Amino acid sequence: ITVSVINGPNLNLLGLREPGIYGSQSLADVEQLVTARAAELGVTVTFAQSNHEGELVDLIQDARTSAHAIILNPAAYSHTSVAIADALSAVQLPVAEVHLSNIHKREEFRHHSFVSAVADVVICGAGPLGYVLALEYLAAKLGAAPD
Ligand code: DQA
Repeated sequence: ITVSVINGPNLNLLGLREPGIYGSQSLADVEQLVTARAAELGVTVTFAQSNHEGELVDLIQDARTSAHAIILNPAAYSHTSVAIADALSAVQLPVAEVHLSNIHKREEFRHHSFVSAVADVVICGAGPLGYVLALEYLAAKLGAAPD
């Protein structure tokens, strides 16, 4: 099975960006962590990042034919984007929403995510491990066969 891991705006700056909140690991580090666990689980993972809302919609739509599930950190668009939530509803794939930080411990405007209403699972506050937990969940749900 294939899982598409999609990261939204400013996550390309992970490691440099507010390390007190988001940690010191880069996006490449996070991708390496996920790739290592995916190999053990017998899952193929693909990675994409975009700072643009419409491009994120395109990436989600592309997953319809290229993946069996989506791990998405919509970043700031979580709190604003009906288009991204609609794209997830349209593709009808299992979706794990991930946030590195615990959005509920932070500013009020981060407490609501449009994506959560269409996600199967929401993981926040676990840092990079959240992506691995999301992968574990999706692999179990889809019955991935470890080598
Ligand atoms: C984030 C939380 C969002 O509120 C924020 O806009 C981000 C990252 C997280 O991973 O904790 O860019 O999604």
